[in-house]
Amino acid sequence: MYGDDIASVLITEQQINEKIRELAKQVSDDYPERGDRDDLVLVGVLKGAVMFMTDLARALSVPVQMEFMAVSSYGSATSSSGVVRILKDLDRDVAGRHVLIVEDIIDSGLTLSWLLKNLQSRNPASLEVCTLLRKPDAVKVEVPVRYVGFEIPNEFVVGYGLDFAERYRDLPYIGTLAPEVYST
Ligand code: XMP
Ligand code: MG
Repeated sequence: MYGDDIASVLITEQQINEKIRELAKQVSDDYPERGDRDDLVLVGVLKGAVMFMTDLARALSVPVQMEFMAVSSYGSATSSSGVVRILKDLDRDVAGRHVLIVEDIIDSGLTLSWLLKNLQSRNPASLEVCTLLRKPDAVKVEVPVRYVGFEIPNEFVVGYGLDFAERYRDLPYIGTLAPEVYST
């Protein structure tokens, strides 16, 4: 699939699955079932986090509600500026609820830092972050991230939700893109 566009596989489908079991165990332990309409609210950031969010949700042993937000950061195709616009907001109020942001990747951390402020202002009972991937630059911005799947090198990656120009999201693994793909 996708010819020679993928230069290397960074994280295999099996490694992703194993990591999701691990993360799901931690999250399930940290958010015991409360009942009485107080389920954990997963907030997925569209579109990149969709694969991770749906797999994570199914691996949890506690009930969750699923919300999505779409934001666009003004910036180039491969880096973000920290100026964020909401394209799709949550469908429900999260005041008083336990909220876990589910992200595909934290790079500069600017998107996440904006998102945390935005969601914090809605007065959730708690607010934490679970990201599948984190790049080294993320240390520059002080964003508390409770759950991290993989620390990856500073390379542009695609697959398992992550795109380049809307392609490659459907790959079941995470890989690096051949340089020819950027330049054409
Ligand atoms: P910041 O820099 O705000 O960026 O943490 C987070 C968003 O940038 C995108 N991003 C990537 N997308 N492969 C991608 O497909 C990458 O290697 C990559 N690095 C950053 C992504 O949308 C993420 O939510
Ligand atoms: Mg993208």
